Amino acid sequence: MSNENLNTCCEKIKSWLKNWCCCSSCSTNDENLTQNEKLKAWVKEWADWCEPNAVYWCNGSEEENQSLLDQMVASGMAVKLNEQKRPNSYYFQSDSSDVSRVEDRTFICSKTQIEAGPTNNWKDPVEMKAILRNLYKGCMKGRTMYVIPFSMGPLGSNIAHIGVELSDSPYVAVSMRIMTRMGKSALDVLGNGNFVKCIHSIGAPLAVGQKDSKWPCNKEKYITHFPEDKEIWSYGSGYGGNALLGKKCFALRIASTMAREDGWLAEHMLILGITNPQGVKKYIVAAFPSACGKTNLAMLVPTIQGWKVECVGDDIAWMKFGEDGRLYAINPEAGFFGVAPLTSMKSNPNAMLSCTKNSLFTNVALTPDNDIWWEGMTDEKPAQLTSWTGETWTPDSEKPAAHPNSRFTAPAKQCPVIDKNWENPRGVPISAILFGGRRPSTVPLIHQAFNWNHGTFLGSIVSSETTAASVGTVGIVRRDPFAMLPFCGYNMGDYFKHWLNIGKKTDQDKLPKIFYVNWFRKDANGKFLWPGFGENSRVLKWICERIDGTAKANETAIGYVPEKDALDLSGLAGFENNSALDELLKVDKEQWLKEIELIKEHYTKFGDRLPEELKTELNNLESRLNK
Ligand code: GTP
Ligand code: SPV
Ligand code: MN
Repeated sequence: MSNENLNTCCEKIKSWLKNWCCCSSCSTNDENLTQNEKLKAWVKEWADWCEPNAVYWCNGSEEENQSLLDQMVASGMAVKLNEQKRPNSYYFQSDSSDVSRVEDRTFICSKTQIEAGPTNNWKDPVEMKAILRNLYKGCMKGRTMYVIPFSMGPLGSNIAHIGVELSDSPYVAVSMRIMTRMGKSALDVLGNGNFVKCIHSIGAPLAVGQKDSKWPCNKEKYITHFPEDKEIWSYGSGYGGNALLGKKCFALRIASTMAREDGWLAEHMLILGITNPQGVKKYIVAAFPSACGKTNLAMLVPTIQGWKVECVGDDIAWMKFGEDGRLYAINPEAGFFGVAPLTSMKSNPNAMLSCTKNSLFTNVALTPDNDIWWEGMTDEKPAQLTSWTGETWTPDSEKPAAHPNSRFTAPAKQCPVIDKNWENPRGVPISAILFGGRRPSTVPLIHQAFNWNHGTFLGSIVSSETTAASVGTVGIVRRDPFAMLPFCGYNMGDYFKHWLNIGKKTDQDKLPKIFYVNWFRKDANGKFLWPGFGENSRVLKWICERIDGTAKANETAIGYVPEKDALDLSGLAGFENNSALDELLKVDKEQWLKEIELIKEHYTKFGDRLPEELKTELNNLESRLNK
């Protein structure tokens, strides 16, 4: 037989085998999706190791999505929501042990511990890979391995990057389709190029005939990153940032290391566009720790006349210098994975309208007519619900109906105020950077940094009360520099240095101005002093006017604070006399001197990796306070 005939014959046998054989090399649909041999070989290596029943390459199509969702409804993992009330939307209840990010199980496995730095868990990469290989052996038995190609950022943008996630969770596949540009189009952009390798398993193989649980996962969890190899290996969890590996693992932890190497920024920031009554538009990014108001600010409805806010992104920003020397930002994501509780038509109508259809809901409560509800969604509580743990809930129940970190997953394009430039491959030019967190005392509503180095100092001391977005005690103040504490892929001291270096790369007047906001200051009775939400537009207005050089400010020890009449408070109840405003803007010397001691303690962690410039900023602040 000639070689050519032999080949044809082999192909025939192979395709015939595929019709009945269920081994992973036969049950795969990779034909024609990609010619990338490195990718194919990598997929095969992992399929052989994890031993799934089948390998399925995701193309991202509507039909594929529907079939995955139907399959999850059939298996009991998903509930289809009421088609009249919430078209094409689905509900999931996770295992009660798998509800948020697991920071103590998250590792940065750089070659040396000092590279990972004092704020990250570290393990030797060779050791960690050995542990995980062991766990991954046969871990997908009885399940399908989904090959999920995705682009972080608009397809083909030179700020964007491609990753491929291997996962045994269909929930991850359908979530990644909303959160990223997923499927064939990402493979087309990839061509024969390199990609960030993301391996994910829920760690719950199924024996023949074993009934699956509603939310399979493993008690033992590992969320690991190999910055030198640009690889992510995740095991044991199916939830959020632990499992949707494009998000925190890639777009922040791995991307921050890429950004350091190539002179750009990968940040835990929302991106918004704000237009004044004269039609002048500015773009602003803001870094607040998890569950501290990024989604809210990103799509805020201004309460001041004639101003408009549009949303580019609500969680992550990648910023690179444009040819004009300014920083340009893209949103690497394509969807919102937003905190559900307290989101309402009053607090964030645009988020509510974003998830009216084609959305996923995880760990919220279910109404008797198969729609969703969570605390704070409506003033009146429904008479009866099924809680996120599957129990009957009534307004008398002691426990909340929705988990405090329950989330909606919605396509960004459904946001009524999505910015027309949100998919612009060049990104949007950034005029201001905001830092902030939940601080009941000390930190005023708004202050402005004197310059880039001082702004970097403000980023390095971001602090907040802890929230439910991560496992741990809620309500303790912790330092969360740049809102990146759980997300920086390398030594945080070097990350500070990187920020200082960014400030040297262009003319000072081309750099964004830096501000610090605190919506969460409380009065002596523990009541918020500032109404927040849409009213935050008043603060954004002052920021825009500072950039234009028209707003008045007092120079204080900590930075520029608005003069009393510089904030537009027209029509705002409760601010008729100045006492609330005084309290909100107060820079209290004694409180700040205490804060200095806390900052010193925070800074000791970084040892000799703490940049000299930041020590200088701290000393200068102390001497300004003591003047
Ligand atoms: P991640 O998605 O976890 O990164 O969080 P996020 O920063 O996007 O959080 P989100 O915007 O969803 O914040 C949710 C919490 O912040 C809710 O409890 C809101 O009620 C609260 N919040 C947001 N904006 C304000 C505000 O201006 N004032 C007050 N008091 N609370 C706010
Ligand atoms: C956060 O915790 O900051 C989130 C949710 O945005 S997760 O993607 O789960 O990290
Ligand atoms: Mn986040």
